[in-house]
Amino acid sequence: MARGRFVSIEGGEGAGKSTQVRRLATTLAARGIEAIVTREPGGSEGAEAIRALLMQGAINRWSAHGETLLFAAARADHVEKVIQPALGIGRWVLCDRFIDSTRAYQGVAGGIDDAAILALHAFGSRGLLPDRTLVLDVPRAVGAARALARDGGAGDRFAVRGTVFHDDVAAAFRRFASAEPDRVRMIDAGRDVDTVTAALLAELADLLP
Ligand code: TMP
Repeated sequence: MARGRFVSIEGGEGAGKSTQVRRLATTLAARGIEAIVTREPGGSEGAEAIRALLMQGAINRWSAHGETLLFAAARADHVEKVIQPALGIGRWVLCDRFIDSTRAYQGVAGGIDDAAILALHAFGSRGLLPDRTLVLDVPRAVGAARALARDGGAGDRFAVRGTVFHDDVAAAFRRFASAEPDRVRMIDAGRDVDTVTAALLAELADLLP
């Protein structure tokens, strides 16, 4: 049986990732492709417990290094318990955020060395990389307004960081797309939802059976 495909969806706050991940799963299902939808941090029982530690509490609850280790630990559990087993039985996996979020948020915006993040990933998750990473790109002001409408200003420990932090995150994703154009694709997510879903599917064309 062919291994399933692993697709991660990335982007800043309010880019519409969770909506588009669901829509993409429905679109793939209509083409006979069974996909599981999952998310990070979280996606397995252990990783969801770590998510609560990471998302709630004071902004400085964790040191930058501690936070990076927690994301890596959550991911290791998620990969071993959910992602690899699904790929192994031929399912596609659509994951709302993955390693590139750690490289953007803890790495570029948070000051942790990219090589250290990748070394943790090699140890925790055997260095698993998505077959394709789709980055939903919206102007910062649009993303901030959407996130505010959704959370009513009560964002998590990351959403509440300042403009400079989030501009660094956005720039990081663009840099990853330039560095790895085969894997990482930028999608203009400021358009209507149907257009964005069609654009996501188009970026998966070469992976479809
Ligand atoms: P979200 O998925 O609802 O956007 O919330 C997850 C938050 O966690 C988001 O602000 C980005 C942040 N995050 C990191 O900082 N590093 C990571 O590795 C992941 C997966 C998420």
